[in-house]
Amino acid sequence: MERTSTAGEPTAHRSARYDRRTGDRRDVESPLVSVIIPTYNEADNVPILVRRIEKALADLDYEIIVVDDDSPDLTWHVADELARAQPRLSVIRRTDARGLSSAVMAGFAQAKGRTLAVLDADLQHDERILPDLVSAIVDDGAQIAVGSREAPGGSYGDFGPWRRTISWGGARMAQLMLRTPVNDPMSGFFAVDRSRYEEVADKVNPKGFKILLEFLATGSTPRVTEIGFAFGQRLHGATKLTGSVVVAYLMALLELAGGRFVTARFSAYAIVGLSGVAVRATALGVFIISGVTNPVTWWLAIEVAIIWNYWWNNRFTFNAYRHRGVHALSGLVKFHAVAAHGLLVATATERFLIANVFGDASLIAEGAAVLIGLGLATVGNYHLNRSFTWDALPA
Ligand code: GDD
Ligand code: MN
Repeated sequence: MERTSTAGEPTAHRSARYDRRTGDRRDVESPLVSVIIPTYNEADNVPILVRRIEKALADLDYEIIVVDDDSPDLTWHVADELARAQPRLSVIRRTDARGLSSAVMAGFAQAKGRTLAVLDADLQHDERILPDLVSAIVDDGAQIAVGSREAPGGSYGDFGPWRRTISWGGARMAQLMLRTPVNDPMSGFFAVDRSRYEEVADKVNPKGFKILLEFLATGSTPRVTEIGFAFGQRLHGATKLTGSVVVAYLMALLELAGGRFVTARFSAYAIVGLSGVAVRATALGVFIISGVTNPVTWWLAIEVAIIWNYWWNNRFTFNAYRHRGVHALSGLVKFHAVAAHGLLVATATERFLIANVFGDASLIAEGAAVLIGLGLATVGNYHLNRSFTWDALPA
């Protein structure tokens, strides 16, 4: 590891361990850190943030790259003007692409730094911890340093209870599914070592939901440090992360957790299917406890599960193609047709296997036949529902 710290000298502040000041000269070959700022309509915030970063990194050799997606408020122009007087600042104006993750990746691709950092333009990320993020990597050997709301000194600022719960739940799910020991994996504020960046850059999904998740979950398990910061209030402008963020997030987790074997959408479909099995069992249980058991209740329990599955597939699995209003009803009718198909496939497969392949009706043979039948029906129904019920593109 490259180390140019000044051993033996008193180090009052952590960042004083670097003696890499270069005055006004910008070391275009390899600054210690490249700070990427993705922007969309942040014209009012960018000048303030650039000034704050200059102050925070005054002791270090750095470059700043603003990646703007041709903002209607002319953020790119404001940044260009600043860059004229600040050789450390450069601006990428993208007219052919949009999206937070791909903007960050575009900035990384151009960056020359030994470490690569990202922070939001809206001043919600405290730039004063940037030197500590860099130090965690170059001095302490971390591969990824996360600006964390869950580490000591960190907080969620003025997040309401709802957003706090979503954030908390999302973090726990990421830990469970990706096995990354990070308490704030949803943070958009982090730095990554160049070698880690190069290891995963080609595998990162630029349409991915959270770029940090991609860097955490792709490739080998990274060494991670979290450094606390207090999430601030957005100063100007409005948040862009609205709408179906939760759904997109869960899909991203599924993609990262199982994407090598099956698509995220199929995982979602299978999870909904399993939950439907539980719902049906619960409905049956309720009927049995209330003392009503007849063929009608048996079918009723299936119906409850079908509606449950339809609702969740509409809102989750096929969220991007979801039916609204009256269309939701015609979708439900189609979903029933596909469910009937699945029932047929499952039953036919099961009977065929028991009669012709397993040859006997032992419990194990029967169980295996049921599972294979269910598996075939699930895969078949998934494709039918995708193309027929939701008219979704293949994925
Ligand atoms: N270039 C580019 N293109 N930048 C974008 C785009 C885009 O399509 N969309 C958003 N940005 C920029 C914004 O201008 C801002 O600088 C940053 O990305 C984050 O966008 P916000 O709209 O402020 O997001 P947020 O505050 O809701 O979410 C932030 O906090 C979350 C944690 O709760 C982000 O940092 C998330 O990554 C983070 O998970
Ligand atoms: Mn924000």
